[in-house]
Amino acid sequence: MKRIAVLTSGGDAPGMNAAIRAVVRTGIYRGWEVYGVQLGYQGLIDGKVIPLTARDVGGIIQRGGTILGSARSLEFKTKAGQLKAIRTLNQHGIEALVVIGGNGSQTGSYALHSLGFPVVGVASTIDNDLYGSDITIGVDTALNIALEAIDRLKTTASSHQRAFLVEVMGRDCGYLALMSAIAGGAEAVVIPEVEVDPEEIAQRLIRAYERGKAHALVVVAEGARYNAEGLAEYFKQHHERLGFDLRVTILGHVQRGGNPSAYDRILASRLGAAATEAIERGETGVLVGLIRGEVTTTPLEEVVNNKKPIDLRLFELAKVLD
Ligand code: F6P
Repeated sequence: MKRIAVLTSGGDAPGMNAAIRAVVRTGIYRGWEVYGVQLGYQGLIDGKVIPLTARDVGGIIQRGGTILGSARSLEFKTKAGQLKAIRTLNQHGIEALVVIGGNGSQTGSYALHSLGFPVVGVASTIDNDLYGSDITIGVDTALNIALEAIDRLKTTASSHQRAFLVEVMGRDCGYLALMSAIAGGAEAVVIPEVEVDPEEIAQRLIRAYERGKAHALVVVAEGARYNAEGLAEYFKQHHERLGFDLRVTILGHVQRGGNPSAYDRILASRLGAAATEAIERGETGVLVGLIRGEVTTTPLEEVVNNKKPIDLRLFELAKVLD
């Protein structure tokens, strides 16, 4: 009999529950016992380990967030914290751990793997900045939430001849901003990966106004050198009139709180199931992700030592389409 555990760590992402459910149910299907760790790595240090049955994960596939809770643990960043976490796992007779999360979480997985504990990561973050998966659990839902907000902002912007600066999450990655800009038909997009002259954005807004547009929308990634407030401040200092009246909307955590889309539920189910398959094969120290449509494993060492590039052709496309 094999006993495994699953935890969710870092920022929550819609679809994490579907991934937990898949790990639990495919683990039980293989005849294993499955445990859940509450509150991420900190919970592991603090011994918050509970048994999970197939019924415990019933009725959660459609719910955002994570039933196990999540946290960002400073203690786990230390070797002493990591050793405490391994002690908890050993005390419960757990032979392998599944970690559902993004960059920081998989850095933690790699630390445990390097200390000799078998771990499999599952790619999950709304930021889509994780090497080893073209798309991660939560991205599709977060993108659709951003898009819904953008559509609504365009409606009110048109009524008032306003320009909106809409800031979306993504930490240091511009993926969510770029995709929402293309899908939302924005006039401009500002992402951390491309140096942007705020004056160029101002001129675009002015030109849009002069062309007689009823509104203008700029999608700004939170990690860009000029975030939404930074841009608004620049405009205030350098332009008495842009034509449009300006408003700033910061979407923030709203993007993380939705019910997972069909895409995220299916992706999470596939990746969660693939994690127990990898454990069965004895393939640990890897991240399970989706590459070119195929469920794929990538060594955690590669995952933590590489940065996922953004496709700059999409940035060009956003510019052409504005
Ligand atoms: O990594 C997911 C994310 O939502 C980022 O987009 C954002 O920068 C960060 O987490 C916010 O972190 P917190 O939820 O700790 O405020």
